[in-house]
Amino acid sequence: MKNRFNPALVPAIILTTLLMTGCGSSSDNSPAADTGSSLTAEQQLGKKLFFDVSLSSEGNQSCADCHSPTSGFADPVASQAAPVSEGSVAGKFGNRNAPTSSYAAFIPDFSMTNSVTIDGTTSNYQGGQFLDGRAVDLVEQAKGPFLNPVEMNNPNAEEVVTKVSAASYANDFTAVYGANAFDNTNEAYTNIATAIASFEESHEMNPFTSKFDAWRVGKYILTASENRGLELFMSGAKCANCHTISRPPRFAADSGTIFSDFNYFNIGVPVNPDNPSSGIDVGLAANSNIDPADVATSKGKFRTPTLRNIELTAPYMHNGVYQTLEEVIRHYDISVADYIREPSQSLFFTPEVEENIAEELKTTLRLDNDNSDGITDYEDLVNFMKTLTDGYM
Ligand code: HEC
Ligand code: HEC
Repeated sequence: MKNRFNPALVPAIILTTLLMTGCGSSSDNSPAADTGSSLTAEQQLGKKLFFDVSLSSEGNQSCADCHSPTSGFADPVASQAAPVSEGSVAGKFGNRNAPTSSYAAFIPDFSMTNSVTIDGTTSNYQGGQFLDGRAVDLVEQAKGPFLNPVEMNNPNAEEVVTKVSAASYANDFTAVYGANAFDNTNEAYTNIATAIASFEESHEMNPFTSKFDAWRVGKYILTASENRGLELFMSGAKCANCHTISRPPRFAADSGTIFSDFNYFNIGVPVNPDNPSSGIDVGLAANSNIDPADVATSKGKFRTPTLRNIELTAPYMHNGVYQTLEEVIRHYDISVADYIREPSQSLFFTPEVEENIAEELKTTLRLDNDNSDGITDYEDLVNFMKTLTDGYM
């Protein structure tokens, strides 16, 4: 068992000290080591690529259309009616709700880990991009959307490279990668992805400017409700078992937490009847990089997502089944536990994958307190999560 930060074992005062000082090791190549206000030439190029709609088959879609800065770098038009994003070609939809691309730079490369077990729940894999970790890192990830028929829909890498070589910023590309940067298609395509990854590592996509970040450095005082929400998050509601509040290894000394352990769990997310994709999403089990012996125990597992800017990125979960944070809390509080106790009684709730559900979700959290100020536990947790929205500082 690997060391895992267990908030239940840490008294509140120590916890606060821990948060204020951080407990991760700092590293020089950390994305957030870049704290300057301007982007490097490579990051600026990556930003132009990220926002360029001409890099899609119909000339109408860029990365930013599904990862918009105005919506916490998630899809601004995703909704209950359309929980998944439409591609460049009208009427083509993917099967997953677009996650935020911000703070993805902190996700470690996909790897098999020593088992991590907490409360009887085991995760054998960690990190990787996409919700099932199938792209090892940001560069591999960025090569995907351009060629995905339900996203930007280019026929091949050559087409993308040709478009970039004809773009207004083609000179920026050769300035960064050399005069012959367009000669070799594979190299040029990798450099396009590399430039995008470098923008994704910049402070623009990882600003750490939320109330929570301000509070950590003594520049914001949490309200009573936000404070109770934090305490519930850390212990009573067990959220931090997975949405870890300590710093992962990639942290620079001056950055905040990501609220993810980057491990894989099945939290029993129910089928979303409004998701146009048919069939069950098995998550990690379909990642071809896992050990075939682990397929059965990986079914239904997804990487714990960051909760930063969660207020802005509805709908929630890989299939977009929940519209509000209250619904999400209800899921953890009673929905899964009720289903486990009495499946036949849970008429409106069937997990998409019933195997491998995390142990800690199998008992009711009992978040039913009305506090003295009339604000409920649910509202406290939501109020705390809203302190993770960037733009306060
Ligand atoms: C049509 C909408 C759409 C477009 C366009 C799009 N994405 Fe995504 N993006 C998604 C979806 C959906 C996922 C999750 C897919 C999955 O897990 O299989 C995703 C996942 C990601 C992730 C991984 C985040 C994580 O938590 O694992 C990153 C990073 C990302 N996209 C960046 C980009 C970049 C860079 C581009 C442009 C080259 C791009 N996206 C274009 C919808 C889109
Ligand atoms: C056992 C690990 C675990 C625990 C405990 C846990 N989560 Fe999660 N959380 C996950 C995973 C994994 C997902 C992604 C599931 C999916 O998409 O199918 C997730 C998704 C979410 C999402 C949606 C994120 C998005 O971008 O769609 C929110 C919000 C959330 N969790 C909040 C909480 C809160 C609040 C608690 C405590 C009440 C909590 N989580 C407890 C693992 C956990």
